[in-house]
Amino acid sequence: MTRIDHVAGERKTSGVSLQGVNKWFGAVQVLGDIDLDIQSGEFVVFVGPSGCGKSTLLRLIAGLEEVTEGEIRIGGRDVTDADPSDRGIAMVFQTYALYPHMSVAQNMGFGLKVAGRSKQEVTGKVAAAADVLRLTDYLDRRPGQLSGGQRQRVAIGRAIVRDPDVFLFDEPLSNLDAELRVEMRIEISRLHQSLGNTMIYVTHDQTEAMTLADKIVVLRSGRIEQVGSPAELYDDPDNLFVAGFIGSPKMNFLPAEVRGGAIRVAGHPVPDPGLRSRPAEGTKLLLGIRPEHLRLAKPGEPALTVTAQFAEFLGGTTYLYGAVAEGVDCVMEVDRSVDTRQGAVLNVTAMADDIRCFGENGLRLR
Ligand SMILES: Nc1ncnc2c1ncn2[C@@H]1O[C@H](COP(=O)(O)OP(=O)(O)OP(=O)(O)O)[C@@H](O)[C@H]1O
Ligand SMILES: [Mg+2]
Repeated sequence: MTRIDHVAGERKTSGVSLQGVNKWFGAVQVLGDIDLDIQSGEFVVFVGPSGCGKSTLLRLIAGLEEVTEGEIRIGGRDVTDADPSDRGIAMVFQTYALYPHMSVAQNMGFGLKVAGRSKQEVTGKVAAAADVLRLTDYLDRRPGQLSGGQRQRVAIGRAIVRDPDVFLFDEPLSNLDAELRVEMRIEISRLHQSLGNTMIYVTHDQTEAMTLADKIVVLRSGRIEQVGSPAELYDDPDNLFVAGFIGSPKMNFLPAEVRGGAIRVAGHPVPDPGLRSRPAEGTKLLLGIRPEHLRLAKPGEPALTVTAQFAEFLGGTTYLYGAVAEGVDCVMEVDRSVDTRQGAVLNVTAMADDIRCFGENGLRLR
């Protein structure tokens, strides 16, 4: 038996399903008609703008808030009205709130001790969790003697020793500096691989969402906009909101119009994106093109003209910011050989397959 099996006991893990979940705070609805199926062992990330309901949704799953309407199941069992302690979950928060006067080991084992577990069991579980989290050398320290990342690992350790079926994380890394976030992100990914538990993770951070998730749930104003793998959301967004939310720098949105049978941006025809139903003459669209998909046109190829404004050199790549037309900005990834001086004019195009079309209502046209 490996250390990790020892922590997890026999591997326990469960799916989570939400059906018709609504949440009102008084007269204000904060979540509407949430239907969501999370498979056992899946890593699911909730993203969305501040106030869209991510934490509330997590807290409903945890049982820290009551659902107004709908049903929550964990491992097939209806837990809609169950106590948090009876749901097989453990939650890790942004503020990790460790007991300052207790050692790392005592902090991690406190919940088990209170629950009346034997000293031997507590010590064993704490040691195993510390091993997974590389905290073995720090077990006797107080939280005040640890870095931010180490403290957050202790908070995660506290969750691991409880041996939950489902881990819930609410922005666990957002108090850490950039470098530590990257380090901890990798730790959490490794943890998921080794424990294999279902994990539900809330974040504002694009990169965390893209790198950690098997499945991303994009929320907006209390509603689910789209659910999919990171690649599905990136390549195949259902609407403008998801297209603009996933990806950094953002997808370019270029106003276009159907004229003379072609889709045109600022009068220039673009490669035909091959929509199933061709939009009528005069239809206004928005074309979504990712920065890495804009490229220099070959001589004679139909192209948009981009006037360079400024460039961001990031070492491996350069982002050129420019204007396609008066008031229509764009950003494109270019290599070093490209003239990015202010005022330089570039002929730019994209592959037809890399152009996404959105109607004026914001919905994707396919
Ligand atoms: N206890 C409460 N009483 C009333 N309104 C609340 C309560 N908790 C949250 N809200 C409201 O519910 C909405 C969703 O809040 P929530 O904390 O879930 O957002 P969030 O997506 O986690 O935001 P952030 O990214 O800023 O953490 C917000 O408009 C918030 O003001
Ligand atoms: Mg929140």
